[in-house]
Amino acid sequence: MSNAIKPADYSAFQRYLEHASGIVLGDNKHYLVTSRLNRILKEHKIDRLGELVKVLETGRNRNLQTEVVDAMTTNETSWFRDSHPYRILQEALLPDFSKARRTPIRIWSAACSSGQEPYSISMVIDDFQRKNPGALGSNIQIIATDISSSILAKAKAARYDNIAIGRGLAEDFKSRYFRKDGDQWEVIEPIRNRVQFRQINLMQSYALLGRFDIIFCRNVLIYFSGEAKQDILERMTSAINQCGYLFLGGSESPGNAGRHYDMERHGGGMVYKRKS
Ligand SMILES: C[S@@+](CC[C@H](N)C(=O)[O-])C[C@H]1O[C@@H](n2cnc3c(N)ncnc32)[C@H](O)[C@@H]1O
Repeated sequence: MSNAIKPADYSAFQRYLEHASGIVLGDNKHYLVTSRLNRILKEHKIDRLGELVKVLETGRNRNLQTEVVDAMTTNETSWFRDSHPYRILQEALLPDFSKARRTPIRIWSAACSSGQEPYSISMVIDDFQRKNPGALGSNIQIIATDISSSILAKAKAARYDNIAIGRGLAEDFKSRYFRKDGDQWEVIEPIRNRVQFRQINLMQSYALLGRFDIIFCRNVLIYFSGEAKQDILERMTSAINQCGYLFLGGSESPGNAGRHYDMERHGGGMVYKRKS
């Protein structure tokens, strides 16, 4: 970007980004916008942010739209992030599902980033099955979605470097569920095979994904406006089977959609159970 961003161009970009992805960009994130979009602007020979918005708004350059949203998403994640959801899954939800002989079991990781969340879920299921052979049916599906096509490509590749692998993973899980290949660690097939990836923008319909027994919608709603967040949570609630569960991030709450749920506390963590 040649010069400082003009206030009108910045506002136009804020509106575009919120409309396209739900992400609300604060008023003082000029540095973030410049650092994340500079390469794209150079590559497309676009001088100013305002010009970029005009091109994006024509809707004719899909690739550019994808590149911009990809650049503006925050993909911070780790294995077994916050630990509580995975412990609750292992110690409370899977034992309940097994007693109820629930099958199939469908789990949605709704903003999966580079795959750590859905693969952590898949590892917990495998670990539970080892400790309780035959307790769960074999039909367990994990659908993992994200708006960002580049982060989804990383998730599907299921290969992680030493830094990524070191974030949150216990040593026994690392040796059991990964294969070392040069300086990369690859998730083994039985864990990968349970996970299907799809590109889904939470601002748009996800009715075609079907219904779920558990939804992980963690550390993504914080980026949205209150209105977008409520709309997503209402639609997500319709996608949860009765007595199914919703996990949110540690700093997130269901707001008004909370009326559809009973909040269950387990140790230091919590899960929202859909009322029947
Ligand atoms: C901070 S990461 C959270 C990853 C994981 N859920 C966790 O808790 O570790 C947020 C993810 O939300 C995705 N995201 C942002 N806006 C989205 C949208 N409108 N629809 C779907 N995913 C979105 C981003 O691409 C990013 O990968």
